[in-house]
Amino acid sequence: MSFEVPAGRIGAEVISADHLRERVSELGRQITADYAGRPPLIVGVLKGAYVFMSDLAREIALPVEFDFMAVSSYGESTASSGVVRIVKDLETDIAGRDVLLVEDIVDSGLTLKYLRRLLGDRNPSSLEVCALLVREGARTDGVKYVGFPIPPDFVVGYGLDVAQYYRELSDIRVFEPA
Ligand code: IMP
Ligand code: MG
Repeated sequence: MSFEVPAGRIGAEVISADHLRERVSELGRQITADYAGRPPLIVGVLKGAYVFMSDLAREIALPVEFDFMAVSSYGESTASSGVVRIVKDLETDIAGRDVLLVEDIVDSGLTLKYLRRLLGDRNPSSLEVCALLVREGARTDGVKYVGFPIPPDFVVGYGLDVAQYYRELSDIRVFEPA
C-alpha cells in the first residue's frame, strides 16, 4: 500500500463542469421519459460512478431507488488487468426490477460485460446501462445512455481516479503519467 500521490501531472481539460452539467441534465430528462410509470433501481458502480450517479439521480424526476456495487478491475495502474472481482455486492433483490446500471467509463468493456452477465442472471425485468464516458472505439453495444465519447488519454476527475486520487475535480482532465 502506497500513500503517495501518483507521479504525473493533471493536463488539459477534456470536459468542462458546464458541459458535464448540461449533458447529465439531458440524460436525466431522457431517463425520466423512458422510465415513466416504472421508476428504476439505479445501481452505481463504485467508486468511479458516485459523482455522476449523484448528479444524474437529481435530474431524474422519478422516485428512483439506489444501490451500489464495487468491483475491482484495475488495481492501482492505468492499464486493465482483465480481471474483475466483486468487492461489494448489491443489497437489493433485483428480480423483477427495472435496473439501470450507472458506470463512469466503458474502456475495454470487460467490467461491463462481467456485470451485465452477473446482474442479468438475477432476472431483472429490464437491465440498461448508462455510462458517463465511453472510450472511442470501445464495444458499446447495449449501452443505452452515453454521456460523452472520449479519446484514448487516461482521464481523471468527476469521480474518476488514478490510484484513488483526483476524484474530487469538478471537470474531467487528462492525467499525464511522469
Ligand atoms: P474496462 O473494464 O476496461 O471497461 O474499464 C472500466 C473501469 O476502468 C472503469 O470503471 C474505470 O474505473 C477504469 N478506467 C478506465 N479508463 C479510465 C480512465 O481514463 N480514467 C480513470 N479510470 C479509468
Ligand atoms: Mg478506477
